[in-house]
Amino acid sequence: MKRILSLLALCCLLVPMSNLSAKDVFVNTPKTTLMLSVNEGSTPRIHYYGSRINAGQAQEIYDAMSINYDAYPAFGRNSYDETALSVTHADGNMSTELAVTGSRQEGDLTIISLKDKKYDFYVDLYYKANDKSDVIETWTVIRNGEKKPIRLEQYASGVMTLRQEGAWITHFHGTWGAEAQMTEEPLTAGLKNIVCHDGVRGGMDDRAEVMISLDGKPQENSGRVIGAALCWTGNYKLRLETRGKYRHTLIAGIDDLHTAYTLKPGESFQTPELALTYSEEGKGGVSRAFHRWGRNVKLHNGHGLREILLNSWEGVYMNVNQEVCEQMMDGIKELGGELFVVDDGWFGRKYRRTDDTQGLGDWITDTEKLPNGVPALLKAAEDRGLKFGIWIEPEMTNSKSELFEAHPDWVVAHPTRELSKGRGGTQLVLDMSNPKVQDFVFGIVDNLVKENPKLHYIKWDCNMSMNNYGSSYLTSDKQSHLVVDYHRGLRSTLERIRAKYPDLVIQLCASGGGRVNWGFMPYFDEFWVSDDTDAQQRLFIQWGTSHFFPTMAMAQHVSASPNHQTHRVIPLKFRFDVAMTGRLGMEMKPSDLNDREREYAKKAVAFYKEIRPIVQLGDQYRLLSPYEGNGFCSEMFVSEDKSEAVFFCYKFEHYVDLHTPRWHMAGLDPNATYRLNEFECAEREHYFEGKTFSGKFLMETGLDAYLSRQFSSRVIRLKKI
Ligand code: GLA
Repeated sequence: MKRILSLLALCCLLVPMSNLSAKDVFVNTPKTTLMLSVNEGSTPRIHYYGSRINAGQAQEIYDAMSINYDAYPAFGRNSYDETALSVTHADGNMSTELAVTGSRQEGDLTIISLKDKKYDFYVDLYYKANDKSDVIETWTVIRNGEKKPIRLEQYASGVMTLRQEGAWITHFHGTWGAEAQMTEEPLTAGLKNIVCHDGVRGGMDDRAEVMISLDGKPQENSGRVIGAALCWTGNYKLRLETRGKYRHTLIAGIDDLHTAYTLKPGESFQTPELALTYSEEGKGGVSRAFHRWGRNVKLHNGHGLREILLNSWEGVYMNVNQEVCEQMMDGIKELGGELFVVDDGWFGRKYRRTDDTQGLGDWITDTEKLPNGVPALLKAAEDRGLKFGIWIEPEMTNSKSELFEAHPDWVVAHPTRELSKGRGGTQLVLDMSNPKVQDFVFGIVDNLVKENPKLHYIKWDCNMSMNNYGSSYLTSDKQSHLVVDYHRGLRSTLERIRAKYPDLVIQLCASGGGRVNWGFMPYFDEFWVSDDTDAQQRLFIQWGTSHFFPTMAMAQHVSASPNHQTHRVIPLKFRFDVAMTGRLGMEMKPSDLNDREREYAKKAVAFYKEIRPIVQLGDQYRLLSPYEGNGFCSEMFVSEDKSEAVFFCYKFEHYVDLHTPRWHMAGLDPNATYRLNEFECAEREHYFEGKTFSGKFLMETGLDAYLSRQFSSRVIRLKKI
């Protein structure tokens, strides 16, 4: 009987999606299912999002009457809840009434087609199921079949709804130098908005990612959690509406403030993707699904190991020149680094980039600093066996620049207004909706690579918001298209760059982590997590950022002590141990290290090379949160086959009666035996060096790895024997 039942289950799993009944649609990933119903003439409904089910279980879902919610609610008919779509039709009618006209499956895509009951207005809902991780991407394509232009007032990417008492939300807020600060709170009745109005930097304050924990207070490695991330480079809004205590609806998309978009007859609009996942392994399970999906399908070069680099910024700021760069190259070479990146300050002719008041836009070498130009810098790196990278801020200019003098109409601004300027009192944003500006921005990268074919790495920065709303390029009736068209222009420029230079490593930076969003990641290999390099504060920033982004993309640099942002003094071991949980780099003058520190740094770089594949390509398990750990924090990385792991723990507060917690590991093979090897233990004894433990013991009973002082930290490598 059992066998017959499992055969039946197998048959249900094998039913091809194209043979769907008219009623039920299952979007399946290996471990999850999203179930919708699509009855012709009615609105499509969401009924279930959770662990994988088969078609035979649909009746249970209906009988339980758990969820039954419009999959894409439109404004104007029974729309007393939040809506995903709001349209002014060609005749001025502001109401829309969508009904299913069909559904189909094409490979990993499920497409549900909708049409307005009275108007030639069409919406296709797309659901893309990732077969290697458990992420579903959803977006819509909206088409105007009417005879005259229509106006999209609100056009969300996707909707997710659930019924659950006691659900919590985890979200991230920040500011310059303190990005991705985590907030966890119960979802209570009312509307919660997570928004970005910056115009240019989509991750500067709020982040476009949330987790919803269904089993009360969020746990790292247990409990049911839904994760959602809007993949969009510009302004967005994530609305979470809670009705009563039970019903929570997430509607996510491009910000609907000042962004009305006109579609001419026959034109379509594709919204950005909303990526969703569901896990029963707590927040950590959601993170690991996003990391895997990111490495497999989203992040540029998601499988290649990232190099250890030295960036010149905190070492010399804008005082770069040939001699000082060569000294830094010698320094990082001696420590075992692989790449040197010259940051801001290398350019400018009439307006030399000696400080941040001028020069952006004039991407011509400052020959007073670099008499033989960028090629000589690159050659110096090459002579030392290092790769070479360079900083640019392509979408920006200063009012004191040759570029602005030649093209004042290229900046984002309305010609009637006095310019509101940003950094340095002169910074302005170039209008990426203008194709001429797009060509110019493409040319910055193209010219640099043409002049320096061996250029390996670019740091693409962006340090200003859209302070002056308006475009000289867009016609007066399209001014509300600016934010969307800016980002479409930026994206198509990045696509052009990637088509021509697929192997160029490009770092995403925006005053630190001001652009961290999955919408950017297809074009970038990594991002600068924060301008704050203080190792203590980094524990919090990196903790938050890792909820949705993989460590291989997180640029983490060891900098000087006292730290330049917080003036905190932190030992070199702790600084390395914190930076090693991502893409390790350095941002200081290596010549400022004393001999003992230099020897230590060499060992740390060599050790990182050994653990790099586990950290950058393995599964991350966050263990003890700095938000809850009373001054302690820990996390670990486990290789995909669970044969190797590396465990990190930190103490960043100290009181006489502050006892080190017992460390419970996660993600190991419970039946395997692991040998422990500790990297440069600063404690009195190497308690665990060479000892062996079962995975089960390490996860259940755990280790008493003592941390004696403030800024003590330990890194333990585990190898299956
Ligand atoms: C921004 C970046 C820094 C650095 C400076 C250069 O602030 O986040 O890392 O590149 O610009 O001006």
